[in-house]
This record gives sequence, C-alpha cells and structure tokens, in this order.
Amino acid sequence: MQHPSINTLGGAFGAEVVGLDLRQPIDPEIVGTLNQALLDNIVLVIRDQDLTAQEFRDGMANFGDPMLQHRAAFRLPECPDVSRIINREKMRPAANWHTDHTNHERPPKATILYARKLPAEGGDTCFSDMYAGLDNLSNESRAEIEDMITLNNMEPDSPTYAAGDRNEFDQGVRHPMVRTHPETGKKALYFHVTKALGIEGMETNAVRPFLDGLLDQAIKPENTLRHHWRLGDVVISDNRCAMHRADPNYDQAEERLLWRIILQGDRPVK
Ligand SMILES: [Fe+2]
Repeated sequence: MQHPSINTLGGAFGAEVVGLDLRQPIDPEIVGTLNQALLDNIVLVIRDQDLTAQEFRDGMANFGDPMLQHRAAFRLPECPDVSRIINREKMRPAANWHTDHTNHERPPKATILYARKLPAEGGDTCFSDMYAGLDNLSNESRAEIEDMITLNNMEPDSPTYAAGDRNEFDQGVRHPMVRTHPETGKKALYFHVTKALGIEGMETNAVRPFLDGLLDQAIKPENTLRHHWRLGDVVISDNRCAMHRADPNYDQAEERLLWRIILQGDRPVK
C-alpha cells in the first residue's frame, strides 16, 4: 500500500505530494486524503511520475471524471481524454489569468498538467487563490460584482479552434462572477478573462477593461504561487477557486509540452 506524504510548499497555498506512484492502485482512504488536500491547498504538485497517457488518465480518475477537451486536434489519439498544451501548431502560451473551459455549462472542477518537455529555463505556470482574490477587492468592487453574470464563449480569434470544436462547444454560457465552491462552501471570484466576452448589463467594449481591473485588485504576490516545473511533475489545481497563467518569458525556440486532463465539475452557483 502506498503512503505518500503531503507537505505544504511554504507559500500562501499549494502542497507537494511525494511517494505516490500514479501507475499503482491507491487505497480509497489515501484517495480521500489527497482529495481533501486539494480542497485545503488549492494546488497539489505530485512529483516524479513516469506515465503513459492511459496511466495518467487512469491515475487522475481517482480525483474525478475526465472530461473531453474542446480542441479536437490536440487530443492524444491513443487517449482522447488527454490533450497537449504546446508552444507549437499556433498554440500560444495562455499568459492571461483564467480558469479553464468556462464556455461549458459544467466547467471542469480541476485541471491537471503533466510536464513532458520543458525549456532549459522558464516556462513556469502561476496559480492564484481566488478565495483570497475575492477578499482583496475593494468593498465597492465587491458590491458591484456580487450579482454579476458573465457571458462565456470560445475566444473568437484563437487559431487553435476548428469549426467542429466551435459547433460542439461554443453555444454561449452564463456563469456567476462570484461562485460558491460546492465542497468547501466558500465564495471565490470566478471568470476567464478571454472567454467572458460579455457581462449582463454592461457595454461590450467595457467588459475587458473591467475584468482587467478586477484582476489587478484580486491578484497579489501574497495569493500567488509560481510553479517551476520539473520533468515528471503532475500538478492539479482546483478551478473553482484558482486561476492560472503560463509565463511566456522563455525561449520559444525550445519546445514546451504539457499533457492536460480536466475533471468534470458542477454548474457554478452564486
Ligand atoms: Fe488554462
């Protein structure tokens, strides 16, 4: 039986899991401990994994149900629940703060990234605690967004979405700007800055500056975690209370490849 240890990373949030092999069965009690650790720490870094795509998928199924991702061309043919995140094939680093797949009615509760190829330097992923992000807002901003509804679509200008992806996944979805986490009961700021193309009752041109202004208030060094990747790292983040971004400041001549799984979430509620 595996007995992994879970150690906080020393910053505001985040924990490291060592001594866990995702290829091997995990006792249900340990699965419960890991899921609780994700709720408590928002981000879990599972070290030293050596996985095929199918092993990655099966290991992650301990945390929830893998959900099909909306770029068909980037799914791995041998395991379609796993998608590639790569700085090639017109895919740009997701440098803006966001939570994933908000164009879905039931967006993913968690995003899991697995480092496969890394640049010699840089290529970090940054995470931000959005419980704290909500608390960081001024009273005026907090009151203003309390009942706001975002209107979410796939980015109109992304070259990585095929027509079929849009037909299947771009119907437009409304989400609350402030959501209550279904497991912790705590409220968090919730939006995807390039998918929230509208806000109910707001002029379209005003939306992006408004969202950028909220991010400026919400995201501070004190509620941010910078993850410097090691090959073999599997990083799980709770999308219901965290945002993330890729740091694009690395040599783009070098390939950076992550495998990604997303886990089915609930419909966000205020
Ligand atoms: Fe993302």
